[in-house]
Amino acid sequence: MFNQGLKGVIATQTEISDIDGEKGKLIYRGYDAKELANNYRFEEVAYLLWYAKLPIEDEVIQLEQKLKQDRVLSPKLKEWICSLPRNMDMMSVLRTTISLLGTNEFQWKPTLDQAIQISALVPSIIAYRYHFMKGTKYNEPLSHLNHIENYLYMLTGEIPSVAITKALEAYMILTLEHGLNASAFSARVTASTESDLVSAMTSAIGTMKGPLHGGAPSGVLDLLDEISVKERADKVIREKLTKGEKLMGFGHRVYKTHDPRSVALKEKLQQSQGQDASLDLAVHVEQVAVRLLEEFKPGRALYTNVEFYAAAIMKSIQLDVELFTPTFTASRIVGWTTHVLEQAEFNTIYRPQAEYIGRLDR
Ligand code: ACO
Repeated sequence: MFNQGLKGVIATQTEISDIDGEKGKLIYRGYDAKELANNYRFEEVAYLLWYAKLPIEDEVIQLEQKLKQDRVLSPKLKEWICSLPRNMDMMSVLRTTISLLGTNEFQWKPTLDQAIQISALVPSIIAYRYHFMKGTKYNEPLSHLNHIENYLYMLTGEIPSVAITKALEAYMILTLEHGLNASAFSARVTASTESDLVSAMTSAIGTMKGPLHGGAPSGVLDLLDEISVKERADKVIREKLTKGEKLMGFGHRVYKTHDPRSVALKEKLQQSQGQDASLDLAVHVEQVAVRLLEEFKPGRALYTNVEFYAAAIMKSIQLDVELFTPTFTASRIVGWTTHVLEQAEFNTIYRPQAEYIGRLDR
């Protein structure tokens, strides 16, 4: 049987997360992701994914200690980050820098220590390169700040407010993991050859970069900027759909109803922003787009995906657009590493088949 894009194909079994695309529910290891985002910290949910249980106090302290040690960039790593071409986008920098970690210490089988080490480094690599490109001073991580606070501090040089930290934390918890999406699949395919964790993460980052996957939030901002006022929404969206263009931030392979992450992020924004012009525009664009998508693509059940309100969250905390997909990567790396660890436990090499439709008689 041939399924374009492996639509509907079950390629593995997993205990990491479950997506109910009909009911719009996302579960991490038995817990509702939205509840986790409302009640737990990033480190606690990362612990849940990596260790398959929520941590008690000592356990989360130990994880925080390890993240603290591992997020410090070595002089060599800093030198490498600066030596990459200036015209390299941030996702490519991340992919190449992570790839440079791949020395002999990263051999099959992947370990939890390696997973935490790579995950801890991602925000620091992003912040270091960001300052290098801007010619501004990199702020070394502070030991009394948590993972999210440190990421914001390394980028801005300021201790972030609770509201900003909580907004980014909710986003990063809600995007930690999402089943066998394209990048997690890439990671598992690479790991299934008994290649190392660094190689699997390099595959995943390369996959995440594309606009149909992690690269969508900047497209969402482009759309909102192009519309700019509510009155133009119908005209701009109609034109795009007439030309056969896809609307960034809408549609999903699995969700055939509202993406629960999008719903949760919208709620967070409404709680924290109250009456805000750009949020007001985003909510209006969502309404118009859903109506027009039903008109142009009847029955396809196209709603906002996580990227739509992610763009609004990141804009509200004033992250540069170039940081949107890298920030998504800084959370999803936890999900990818967990997938590779699970793959390594019950490994079988991925090797599907292609149906040959070329000539046989030449
Ligand atoms: N705008 C307009 N039409 C759309 C959109 C959209 N955003 N998404 C799907 N459609 C249409 C398709 O054109 C197709 O129409 P057809 O049946 O007439 O051919 C139909 O809906 C089904 O869509 P597919 O592309 O076949 O759905 P698929 O599951 O392959 O793709 C995807 C899912 C890639 C997310 C798609 O909806 C899309 O490209 N969205 C825009 C990009 C985006 O927001 N990506 C972020 C996804 S979330 C994430 O990766 C973290």
